[in-house]
Amino acid sequence: MATNTQKPVALVTGGGSGIGRATAVRFAELGYSCVVADIDEQSAKETLGMLQTPGIAVQVDVSKATSVEAMVTAAVQRFGRIDCAFNGAGTDGSYAKIADHPEEEFDRIMSLNAKGVWLCLKYEIAQMLQQEPVVSDPARWADKPDVCRFCGMRGSIVNASSIAGLVGLEYNSPYCASKWAVLGITETAAAEYAKDGIRVNAVCPAATDTPMLDRAKEKFPPAIRVQADPERFPFGRIAAPEEIAEAVCWLCSDACPFTTGEHLKITGGL
Ligand SMILES: NC(=O)c1ccc[n+]([C@@H]2O[C@H](COP(=O)([O-])OP(=O)(O)OC[C@H]3O[C@@H](n4cnc5c(N)ncnc54)[C@H](O)[C@@H]3O)[C@@H](O)[C@H]2O)c1
Repeated sequence: MATNTQKPVALVTGGGSGIGRATAVRFAELGYSCVVADIDEQSAKETLGMLQTPGIAVQVDVSKATSVEAMVTAAVQRFGRIDCAFNGAGTDGSYAKIADHPEEEFDRIMSLNAKGVWLCLKYEIAQMLQQEPVVSDPARWADKPDVCRFCGMRGSIVNASSIAGLVGLEYNSPYCASKWAVLGITETAAAEYAKDGIRVNAVCPAATDTPMLDRAKEKFPPAIRVQADPERFPFGRIAAPEEIAEAVCWLCSDACPFTTGEHLKITGGL
């Protein structure tokens, strides 16, 4: 078992934009080396340019197993291990009621948002299982030899779900299905790998000010325009991506070693 003497390593998918970019930036501010992965390699490189710590940009399509495997290999070749991962890559897709929604759109959204998270977990966890557990400040926990921070953790993963993973979202059943699926996958992975020292959690943001939401607002049917209306939220505004990033980094960190299989609703009190 090792104490964490070297800088921890974070991998972020969807790191080229929005919540993923803000999360990579926050990880770097906290001292993590970063693997910024995105299907849009140029945007991943732009994020990399914002970081103050060592990092690499990796092109990945999270819906393709070979691509995800190559992303994890690239991370390990550069940094030797992956301590934390945020599986943030995702999209909202198109808007229609179920009877009008094209079947292909259901497959596309599930493939990216749900299978993409599952594939990332599959290869990230396989890597973490090979890593030596890392102990956080062992002296502090010496009188509590069973706590995770004393026993050591191999890694911590956070998946992007959504408020649409907790309630129905009219006109977007494929997105809704994919985000509910992310929570089922999260809870299952958490139970399967807790004894191996791997934690898996999810975040469920409501409307967050990102390029995805800007695109979504242009597609929203009138009946759901309220989704992104700041007045709907107790704070009178929607979330900034940095506010989601902060929660992701906290869940990934060893500040919450007994927290796994959880989803954190981040909706500003909605
Ligand atoms: N913005 C919101 O209001 C909101 C709310 C709840 C949940 N979310 C979720 O948070 C996550 C991030 O959303 P965002 O708003 O930052 O979106 P965004 O569009 O700003 O960023 C998503 C990133 O994912 C990348 N991506 C798309 N397909 C990919 C693929 N196949 N492989 C790898 N990368 C791919 C995109 O290139 C983009 O850089 C998504 O999973 C989204 O569903 C967003």
